[in-house]
Amino acid sequence: MKKQRGIFILVVALVLGLALAACGSSNSSVDSSTSAPAASETETSEAVSASETETILIAYFSNTGNTEEVAQKISEYTGGSLAEIQRAEEYGDLQEEDEAEILDGVHPEITVSVDNIADYDTIFVGYPIWWDEAPAMIATFLADNDFSGKTIIPFCTSASDDIENSLHIFHELCPDAEIAEGLTANNPDDIEPWLRELGLLE
Ligand SMILES: Cc1cc2nc3c(=O)[nH]c(=O)nc-3n(C[C@H](O)[C@H](O)[C@H](O)COP(=O)(O)O)c2cc1C
Repeated sequence: MKKQRGIFILVVALVLGLALAACGSSNSSVDSSTSAPAASETETSEAVSASETETILIAYFSNTGNTEEVAQKISEYTGGSLAEIQRAEEYGDLQEEDEAEILDGVHPEITVSVDNIADYDTIFVGYPIWWDEAPAMIATFLADNDFSGKTIIPFCTSASDDIENSLHIFHELCPDAEIAEGLTANNPDDIEPWLRELGLLE
């Protein structure tokens, strides 16, 4: 009987100890100024505040509208501003000229629909995959602006290729920027989880 009571006390002590330990660890991850977040909220603890989202720019080039649609979705989710990149001069023969331009590392003249790029800290850069690369206009955009200390987030659309092979120009042309994980955004359902993982959704 004495032995049973001893085991009972030991079990109660263990349960109490575990409960106290759990309280301690959850308190340490919660900002004391906010109420305890739900499990899904703790996963997005890097979410930026509203004032930070005002410095988000979504710059994109889109030839037939697919990348533009993704850019608009990102803007809806994040509140970021849109900036369209266009080639100053249209291609004479797209199929002939654009690949040579990419392979030769040409930076064709571009227009961008906003001129205060320096005011933004987080810059999405979107484009269609052309010949498994980013179109040359994207290289111009990266080379023409100072992205030092800023975060660049690449995204693309494509027929089938993913974004990986096109990412080298970001590292080559913007060595002092942080290049975040890019997205091949062919499935619109991937956009929201990607933004959440980047900590850009509250
Ligand atoms: C000149 C050219 C080259 C392309 N090269 C590729 C390619 O190498 N791999 C691929 O998956 N898709 C390729 N595509 C398909 C486009 O990436 C795809 O249609 C994209 O969604 C178009 O985006 P946009 O509507 O924003 O221009 C190419 C399209 C064009 C016009």
